[in-house]
Amino acid sequence: MTSRILVAYATRRGSTGEIAAAVGNELRDLGYGAEVAEMGKVVSLSGFDAVVIGVPVYTGKVLPETAAFAARFKSQLAGIPVAGFVTGIAPVYPKTGEVGEFTGQLVKILEPVPLVAVTMFAGTLDPARLSFLERGMTSLLNVPTGDFRDWKAIAAWARELPSHLGL
Ligand SMILES: Cc1cc2nc3c(=O)[nH]c(=O)nc-3n(C[C@H](O)[C@H](O)[C@H](O)COP(=O)(O)O)c2cc1C
Repeated sequence: MTSRILVAYATRRGSTGEIAAAVGNELRDLGYGAEVAEMGKVVSLSGFDAVVIGVPVYTGKVLPETAAFAARFKSQLAGIPVAGFVTGIAPVYPKTGEVGEFTGQLVKILEPVPLVAVTMFAGTLDPARLSFLERGMTSLLNVPTGDFRDWKAIAAWARELPSHLGL
């Protein structure tokens, strides 16, 4: 039977959801039954053989939805392979934090469930969607704005997932 993989994401401005959708598309291309859903809308993990978690970083922290998701599905997550990715600006602009720190946050949140694969992807920063305060902060730090998502790297990571997940 086809293995089913859930790609569960959190987002504030959509970019992580689009990365999750791209991961889901790659998995489907490989013949897996991939479903992509916002974490808060997931009602059950039953029927899934693996889970991929995607979450963005805001002001130094991965979004709290992940901890809520991990707590809600603690026992089911312990029984299936789990992988994860973090989205943020740090991969292209290290002044906004260290990649290892953010992937480490995700690993810690999921503990004692181990992540079989974890990475951080560059996200987006749209100046038009920043609040006055955020715009002030980002220009103070000279944070670059734009869409930094590397779709090739995202697809390549997704295509490696089944071997990490043991599927
Ligand atoms: C107010 C604000 C704070 C942010 N703080 C960080 C940060 O501390 N580190 C980082 O790497 N990226 C940071 N980012 C970049 C976001 O992670 C990036 O915009 C991401 O693509 C957002 O994901 P989303 O569109 O799924 O919400 C920040 C973005 C905003 C708007």
